[in-house]
Amino acid sequence: MGTKGIAIVGMDVGKLLELLNRAFSDEWLAYYQYWLGAKVVKGPMKDAVIAELLQHSADELRHADMLTTRIIQLGGTPALEPKKWYDLTNCGYDAPSDPFVKKILEQNIKGEQCAIGVYTRLLESTLGKDPVTYNLVVQILSDEVEHEEDLQALLEDLAGMLK
Ligand SMILES: [Fe+2]
Ligand SMILES: [Fe+2]
Repeated sequence: MGTKGIAIVGMDVGKLLELLNRAFSDEWLAYYQYWLGAKVVKGPMKDAVIAELLQHSADELRHADMLTTRIIQLGGTPALEPKKWYDLTNCGYDAPSDPFVKKILEQNIKGEQCAIGVYTRLLESTLGKDPVTYNLVVQILSDEVEHEEDLQALLEDLAGMLK
């Protein structure tokens, strides 16, 4: 915890930490949703979808890492128990109970669209108040935008194939 680094934050640090912990919980749930989806997915284009899901799961885990680093910098404590993720999450968790490739893609697109909304709001909250968090969120948001597009492109290819 760096005192000057915290002092320059021009917003309620407790509130900011709550927002960061919520996003942190989302990232862990997204990581698991992708990781497990890659294991159970079935159907056409399975191999391409597995490769994408595994890449995304690694990105979400990296996002959780980035958010923890910032939470600790700000003197906060990351959610210490997985069961807290369910209390804190913005975007929830969609179990891949239907392993058909189209369903898995749709669930993860929904998750990405939720994440894009969450990080856009976090940018609005930190604009001009906390440039360090702002910059971190820009990096994460760029990945989520890419993720949405990757998955929608796969869904389009799949739709062409299923015709
Ligand atoms: Fe993420
Ligand atoms: Fe993502």
